[in-house]
Amino acid sequence: MSSENNTQMQAALAAVVGAKYVVAGESIDTRYRVDLTQKYASSPAFLVKPATTEEVAGVVRIAAAAHTPVTVIGGQTGTCGAAVPADGGIALSLERMNRIVEIDHGAMTMTVEAGCILQVAQEAAEAGQLMLPLDLGARGSAMIGGVIGTNAGGNRVLRWGMMRDMVIGLEAVLADGTVVSSLTKMLKDNAGYNWKHLLIGSEGTLGIVTRAVLRLRPLPTTCQTALLAMENFDACIAVLRALGTTLSGRLSSYELMWEDFYQRMSESQVNGGARPLPLGFPYYALVEAMGGDEEGDDAQFERALAMLLEEGVVADAVIAQSERERKALWDIREEMQHGLAPMRPFRSYDVSMGQTDMPAFVAAARQNFADSYPNVDAIFYGHVGDGNLHAVVTIGEMDASIADTLDLCVYRAAQSVNGSISAEHGIGVGRLAYIDMTRSAEELALMRTLKKALDPDNILNPGKMVDLAAGCARPS
Ligand code: LAC
Ligand code: ZN
Repeated sequence: MSSENNTQMQAALAAVVGAKYVVAGESIDTRYRVDLTQKYASSPAFLVKPATTEEVAGVVRIAAAAHTPVTVIGGQTGTCGAAVPADGGIALSLERMNRIVEIDHGAMTMTVEAGCILQVAQEAAEAGQLMLPLDLGARGSAMIGGVIGTNAGGNRVLRWGMMRDMVIGLEAVLADGTVVSSLTKMLKDNAGYNWKHLLIGSEGTLGIVTRAVLRLRPLPTTCQTALLAMENFDACIAVLRALGTTLSGRLSSYELMWEDFYQRMSESQVNGGARPLPLGFPYYALVEAMGGDEEGDDAQFERALAMLLEEGVVADAVIAQSERERKALWDIREEMQHGLAPMRPFRSYDVSMGQTDMPAFVAAARQNFADSYPNVDAIFYGHVGDGNLHAVVTIGEMDASIADTLDLCVYRAAQSVNGSISAEHGIGVGRLAYIDMTRSAEELALMRTLKKALDPDNILNPGKMVDLAAGCARPS
């Protein structure tokens, strides 16, 4: 953009949102230019902070007229560069659109603006004795628009589903500035194409989500949490199946940790002190149930675990006796900032596959790593109930070529078990070159058709999720 055009655009944007909410070039704070990976830094021309859907539409109309890319900035806790603005483009932060518009106790819904932080929405639901079940480590920074844009998953998918399963109504701004709004509260609505589901998980490439109606659930009043140890993977699946029955549908989380993950993460939490369970088992599972029977739920949980211990399916177990102990167990699974710090710089992955294919995947990935780097350090964990595994991998140093090699090791292993290269974090820019390892040529062509139909000028988060040129250039 010429400087004259730049000045004109700044004035036009300021007329829509107010001069105070348009920041230009170098004055834009770093947090709007990068994501969690710090890998995809960019130089947007403007940061714009609209306060209403109409203002978002006004900004998009200006961008469309000037063929300028628009990327929505959320909590920036993504891992594949999906929310890093285009150089010279507009970074659109919805942080001022952070209101909870309404909680409807009768319909059990929450109408919320896209810039609301997930944890704020969770706590607002709880204050009304209701529950927004989506839960993940980044709850304190992730925005509702972001978790819709990535169709986030997290720790409770096996019971309540992914974000897609919690969005009933949606409002979005399309590439030409049109506002499509369907802020409805009914679960069932088969009147036509479900465009909401097309936008959910589309990483801001088909429309900009501005508001949503979320489905809430009755707030559970009891919670039981335990850490279990298993001697082999078959036992891990047997425990998952057994608890699905014996807890009568109350099993809410089943997070599996391979021993090396458990060792690293518990090391930093207990600081040389005693671990909740000793090392020496190949698998550890963090298990949580929630319910509403204050007399019976604890006993049911204890009985279910006692039975599995007696049968020898579970080798060892510890049940959290207080909220403090519960948090300490969850920290072993979630506090990666500290726990994985010694592994930096690392790559992290979120692949998925059939649950019983997991050992084959892990073996294939380990073999691929070892073939490339004898000094590789790879640890595995994940939402096993969803067929979703995470891996964190390092060789002590990192550059683009090492990253590409590690990526291929993981994605080829996923491909070998007919899995997906991304279970929950999405494609962004970081995985675009590999998407054809998961999606067929016909599927990719369909994605391009959809993108071209909804965003013919390619201004909505260009370069993310869909490669408009047929064929991907992947490092060999
Ligand atoms: C997790 C994130 C990485 O489950 O998805 O830890
Ligand atoms: Zn995850």
